Amino acid sequence: MRNVELKARDPDPARTLERALALGAEDIGVIRQRDTYFAGARGRLKLREQETDGPPLFDELIEYSRADTTDARTSTYRRVPVADAAPLREALDAAYGAVATVTKRRRLLLWEGVRIHLDDVEGLGTFLELEALADRGSDLGAEHEKVERLRAELGVEDENLVGASYENLVRTAAGGRIEPEGDSASAEELLTAAERVTHTAHAPYSHFPVGAALRGGDGQVYVGSNVENASYPQGQCAETSAIGALIAAGQTEITEVAVVAERMDFCPPCGGCRQRLAEFARPDTPIHLGRPGGPRMTTTVGELLPLAFELEPPG
Ligand code: THU
Repeated sequence: MRNVELKARDPDPARTLERALALGAEDIGVIRQRDTYFAGARGRLKLREQETDGPPLFDELIEYSRADTTDARTSTYRRVPVADAAPLREALDAAYGAVATVTKRRRLLLWEGVRIHLDDVEGLGTFLELEALADRGSDLGAEHEKVERLRAELGVEDENLVGASYENLVRTAAGGRIEPEGDSASAEELLTAAERVTHTAHAPYSHFPVGAALRGGDGQVYVGSNVENASYPQGQCAETSAIGALIAAGQTEITEVAVVAERMDFCPPCGGCRQRLAEFARPDTPIHLGRPGGPRMTTTVGELLPLAFELEPPG
């Protein structure tokens, strides 16, 4: 199944509801949903437990993939009805690890085959989502048109568009800040280089390709991808590969870092790589996580590795 989707922060859900009803949208009612996300190596997996005051809804297991951009985007998914959610949640958690939980109150409306979600998400605030379900074989033109029309009628401002998933917003709410795309040419250049090099990753065991791009003291960009091995501990991360390229080019300084993973919106460097980056960077050296043209989280080497080990600590 395929959807065309748009998501935005909604500063005034009461006004949006009023406008949607005025357009003739049908009010289906309120659903309370708890989504538990699991660490899938190839795609995304969530278990949705839900209740309404109306006729009961199936809990469901949803496998899906989607690019994280603020544009109306296409998402592909499979929905599997679940009879007994709690033990399934426990089994999936034991096997794969639950990585986030998103709890929300969703008011669902329907307008010409487009689902309108007025979501109040615990810890995140209020959002509007538009989902146009695509007919089989559709070129998605009609679906994009309907989403655009609704977006205009409901008065969604550009500045409120959100590219990241609720899962990612919840996971990063505590740690970092997500910034709008495109306001730094240097970050975009590094993210583009990092994304490009993910395609060279040798990751047949984890199926988790990663690319890293480093700016050297000479201003040039050095890239690397992860290189795994049949003897698992011998694998190395993308950041480590990129450091090797920078050093081999005679550079000794890292001034900016970007990391891109094919299957994760914001892939933070592992603990070991933080120490490796710190060897050649300064605590205020920026590290960009995200994808080119998408929402971006920028942190620093010092934020990711406070109290870094040094052989001769300053002072
Ligand atoms: N990996 C990286 O290359 N960089 C990171 O920042 C995190 C993890 C790689 C290591 C391994 O090949 C795969 O991702 C799964 O852990």
